[in-house]
Amino acid sequence: GRKWTEVGALDADLADRAVLIRGVAQTIRAVGKKIAFVVVRQFTATVQCVLTVNEELVSPQMVKYATSLSRESIIDVEGVVSVPSEQIKGTTQQVEIQVRKLYCINRAVASLPINIEDAARSEEEIKEAEKVGEKLVRVNQDTRLNNRVLDLRTPANQAIFRLECSIENIFREFLRSEDFVGIHTPKLVAGSSEGGAAVFKLDYKGQPACLAQSPQLYKQMVICAGFGRVFEVGPVFRAEDSFTHRHLCEFIGLDVEMEIKEHYFEVIDIVDRLFVTIFDYLNEKCKKLLDAINKQYPFSPLKYLRKTLLLTFEEGVKMLKVAGVEVDPLGDLNTEAERKLGRLVLEKYDTEFYVLHRYPLAVRPFYTMPCPDNPLYSNSFDVFIRGEEIISGAQRVHIPDFLASRAEACGIDVSTISAYVDSFRYGACPHGGFGVGLERVVMLFCGLNNIRQTSLFPRDPQRLVP
Ligand code: 4AD
Repeated sequence: GRKWTEVGALDADLADRAVLIRGVAQTIRAVGKKIAFVVVRQFTATVQCVLTVNEELVSPQMVKYATSLSRESIIDVEGVVSVPSEQIKGTTQQVEIQVRKLYCINRAVASLPINIEDAARSEEEIKEAEKVGEKLVRVNQDTRLNNRVLDLRTPANQAIFRLECSIENIFREFLRSEDFVGIHTPKLVAGSSEGGAAVFKLDYKGQPACLAQSPQLYKQMVICAGFGRVFEVGPVFRAEDSFTHRHLCEFIGLDVEMEIKEHYFEVIDIVDRLFVTIFDYLNEKCKKLLDAINKQYPFSPLKYLRKTLLLTFEEGVKMLKVAGVEVDPLGDLNTEAERKLGRLVLEKYDTEFYVLHRYPLAVRPFYTMPCPDNPLYSNSFDVFIRGEEIISGAQRVHIPDFLASRAEACGIDVSTISAYVDSFRYGACPHGGFGVGLERVVMLFCGLNNIRQTSLFPRDPQRLVP
């Protein structure tokens, strides 16, 4: 095959060399009949390709053909790399290509529901353009999501999903290096695991069933089966009617469950080292991706400590109280209080990533282990980025009769989860784990304000298509 060059790899080191690229024709501009400029985009990178009529290589017909291309058509360009005297406006690469050959591989329709250049502008760029009276279309979220295949072509979106892939990979690699086993638990299940109402019900060959709200019960059963340490990456389904910036009806859960030898801090230690590894990797190895996101959605780099801050729920409540925010010391924190606490923590400890633990037992799921020294609290934790929850986790109850009584106390009909409870009757070790919402991690790391931006084809209470 021929040698292809990535648009993002085009630089001055390739000056005077012949290259072959494939991308989409982002913009096409003619200057008279003898020159045409085609900006070619591939992933997050753009380069200007210049066609100049000359006797041997570029005919006037070829320039005409180039200017007749429709935007977003797929094209192959062969040409020679040249270094212009100054950076070309609106492209990411420092070099140009002097075109020798140009082929259209597949033509896009002439009228597109979204103009990618418009969709890729930052708020600041939009305001500037409006100031000078430039005609442009603001692309709202519904239009973007209705035309997601086009919307996903913006450099920021290309970068968001590459970042997401990296996080998933590091999650797996880190846990594999710590002797965790990757597992897959069923998504077609008989009942809820995180709370009764919010499940998608379905008919399983005449039996009532639903889509799994989390791998919770099954990942614990795998621990009962003697796997020691497990993780899962998979879809999680929540039918809750939360139409907010951070709730989806289907999201990707990164789940962990592990034996505890002495203390549930062993679970928190995994969270700490896993996330410091993830954040370091993103900052050190994904600069180009972060730049592409930053260009459209400017954000400040996440502040995190080498050793993750661990605060108790009681300490959090106290910090809020001192700041004039009263919350129920045995209740849950609402979104607003969580945000406020995030700001207080940032001021006091200079971190936007921290763990809050020892939650009141009453606000945690039935499978959560109470604190041995005070049963009003529990061996459980939430983890926050920029004041919003990305993880919840805990030590679990591994004593079967106690587990059954906890389920009953939480209003769960124990007969519906007897296989789960019985799993603990055959010898089950102390264990704990946590669940991470992948889309939330990407959203909050990048300071984005809507989880729909970090889900390829988001599912929310109002959206099932595309
Ligand atoms: O807090 P959740 O519901 O906890 C569980 O599912 C437990 N089984 C986890 C455990 O191992 N103890 O969900 C875990 C994480 C949340 O912290 C949040 O990041 C994300 O999943 N999440 C959602 N993300 C998007 N849309 C939703 N509707 C979400 N609900 C939870």
